[in-house]
Amino acid sequence: MKKRILITGSLGQIGTELTKHLRGIYGNDKVVASDMVKKDVPEVTETGAFEVIDVLDSKRLADVVSKYKINTIVHLAAILSGVGEHKPSLAYNVNLNGLYHVLEIAREKECQVFTPSSIAVFGPDTPKDGTPQNTIMRPTTMYGVTKVAGELLCDYYFKRFGVDTRGVRFPGLVSYAALPGGGTTDYAVHIFYDALEKQAYESFIAAGTYMDMMYMPDALHAVSSLMEANPEKLVHRNAFNVASMSFEPEELAAEIRKHIPEFEVTYNIDPVRQAIAESWPNSLDDTCAREEWGWEPKYDISSMVSDMLEQLKKKQGK
Ligand code: NAD
Ligand code: SER
Repeated sequence: MKKRILITGSLGQIGTELTKHLRGIYGNDKVVASDMVKKDVPEVTETGAFEVIDVLDSKRLADVVSKYKINTIVHLAAILSGVGEHKPSLAYNVNLNGLYHVLEIAREKECQVFTPSSIAVFGPDTPKDGTPQNTIMRPTTMYGVTKVAGELLCDYYFKRFGVDTRGVRFPGLVSYAALPGGGTTDYAVHIFYDALEKQAYESFIAAGTYMDMMYMPDALHAVSSLMEANPEKLVHRNAFNVASMSFEPEELAAEIRKHIPEFEVTYNIDPVRQAIAESWPNSLDDTCAREEWGWEPKYDISSMVSDMLEQLKKKQGK
């Protein structure tokens, strides 16, 4: 069946690039972008249909799904980890009720659903290195709690109602098109802007704090590959560990210094986000994704840093 896709939260860090990626694969007229307000992001709002949808308004969501005869919902609207700790009630509401509305509409209108989970599903009791696909999941953040519950809800809708739900546990995503939306891994994006502008960066995450990270092109490829994967081969639908690199701030700084030798990093730790980072794994084992749908990332820290700096310089006209 040909895909007609609705993307929620499409003006965020992932949506800004995923909309273009999916329009490139399926056609501009087959991918409807949406977000809770319309902003001036021409690569999303001017290249195909755009609708204002608050995912807490299930009637509006259902009306847009009917209007465009949508058969696939890519659900990105969410509150991320840092903002979620400051506004836990908002994170609970958007992340769980928003997903519930999407799943109910998908059940009624027979849509496939792709929604990203996160490394935030893990907690301090989880094995930290080579974190397995199936392991202890006792997160200590509201964001993590909603992501674990979201994975379980997606599995439930698949097993109970046959809704074709799929997802990956994204690590921190590094990208240049849009800024990140208030997560713990955001330092790994901000550092590039300050490296180019000031040759210095003040990190809110401490030296020595390892987290899994991924460059956006690999993340986009993960989404479209899993959406198209043979369902008969999928054992772990919600949600797959995917990994490509793990680093701490000093290692990222050293890599940037190969291009900007005078670059310096200082530290002013944010206790909230540092505690979140310390509760997450150092690195994930993504064997199941590799075996079940052929996941294979292209970028490592070195190729990512080269490309990030080159693309940001181009974007800033340097
Ligand atoms: P983001 O914060 O950049 O964007 C989220 C978008 O959702 C924003 O444009 C926001 O306006 C929108 N939104 C918020 N509340 C809404 C509502 N009530 N109705 C409609 N839209 C609403 O986030 P992102 O980084 O693009 O993340 C997208 C998804 O990927 C989320 O589920 C997130 O948990 C997951 N994820 C992201 C990362 C990452 O590093 N970026 C890592 C792991 C998982
Ligand atoms: N990048 C995300 C965050 O830090 C991980 O889900 O919230």
